[in-house]
Amino acid sequence: MKRVLLGISGGIAAYKSAELVRLLRTNNYDVRVVMTHAATQFITPLTLQALSGHAVHTQLLDANEENAMGHINLARWAELFLIAPASANCMAKLSLGIADDLLSTLYLAAECPVYIAPAMNQAMWSKPVTQENLNRLIHHQVSMIGPDAGSQACGEIGYGRMSEPSDIVAQLNALNAPQLLLNKKILISAGPTREALDPVRYITNRSSGKMGYALAQQAQLLGAEVTLISGPVQLAAPKNIHTLYVESAEEMYAAVMQQVSGQDIFISAAAVADYTPESVPTEKIKKQGTHTQLSLRKTQDIVASVASLMNKPFTVGFAAETHHLEQYALDKLQRKNLDMIAANWVGRAEGGFDSAYNALQVYWQNGQKTFTMTDKNQLASQLLTLIAERLNA
Ligand code: PMT
Repeated sequence: MKRVLLGISGGIAAYKSAELVRLLRTNNYDVRVVMTHAATQFITPLTLQALSGHAVHTQLLDANEENAMGHINLARWAELFLIAPASANCMAKLSLGIADDLLSTLYLAAECPVYIAPAMNQAMWSKPVTQENLNRLIHHQVSMIGPDAGSQACGEIGYGRMSEPSDIVAQLNALNAPQLLLNKKILISAGPTREALDPVRYITNRSSGKMGYALAQQAQLLGAEVTLISGPVQLAAPKNIHTLYVESAEEMYAAVMQQVSGQDIFISAAAVADYTPESVPTEKIKKQGTHTQLSLRKTQDIVASVASLMNKPFTVGFAAETHHLEQYALDKLQRKNLDMIAANWVGRAEGGFDSAYNALQVYWQNGQKTFTMTDKNQLASQLLTLIAERLNA
């Protein structure tokens, strides 16, 4: 029985917590509840005590609690910390490490995986400062569940509605899945490449590396031995993952080909330049005339090269498309001899490059699956679960 600490912050979605506790228990989780003062205005601790079968914790400094289940003990007890609903204020505090009540103090003290189900008005969700807080939390290895889009308690429509309790529990179950990739070696490429034009300029693209890094972290959670080949990104080095940094498409090709032997799976999430300058002068190119021309040559196709190896790993490509998603993805699947391709829309407001969120349309020989818009950690876990299934098929 997995031990879940459920943190409830103040928001109308707190009324869903009763159902969430009930479902967690029927899914074999041992649940202890922590509420902020604001949360107790929406739902009584007594309701959650009755449903969880344990006293509900609300006070940071409580003489009785500190003797029995004080905040450090509670943090140590938890194998998972789920915060649902997480209000905009709660997310802001957690993202900055402000610990001024029991819930936020437990977040700092907890060493277990943390999952957050945001819930707030759509305008509050899309405010840049909330998105910054969200990105900071994701950067700190917090996994997001939702939010969903739809009609809200305030009468508005948009993103910000807390995911349904059944979806939250389904995602927790998936995220705490058995070690599907135990003893599997997996090689993942991530981020953009930089193609030098001269000593001070380069051609690159909008890839942040978030998708590839999420795949690396989730593959590790599923038990895989991960090697990550990363282009230049602003992300922190993933903990305990063998990571090699490269800059150009040529360097990425060399690193992948050097690491690929003995790998069970290769996932090419990197946005590799298709073309690179024919030659790179050693001196800065001087400004001249009103127009200039660049002469580019094709780079080597890394994922196609891996897929053409005699003992090729299960090879998964990505397809980043602005139009004809299915047609172009299926063409890449065949032409590059891939086992699977994960296609995503790019150049749109939501998902794709540099977003914390994405959606995927996945294709393989005689099969396909849709993963709807969610945070990249969650999406990575869904894609890896599918890869594990296909690998064993
Ligand atoms: O990094 P993020 O900001 O999180 O964004 C994620 C992403 C949008 C970059 C990612 O989801 C994605 O789509 N990655 C692939 C981007 C891409 O280059 O797509 P493509 O359709 O141009 O290439 C098809 C496949 O060939 C890709 O697997 C690519 O890695 C591979 N390729 C391309 C060129 C080349 N020379 N070698 C390759 O291996």
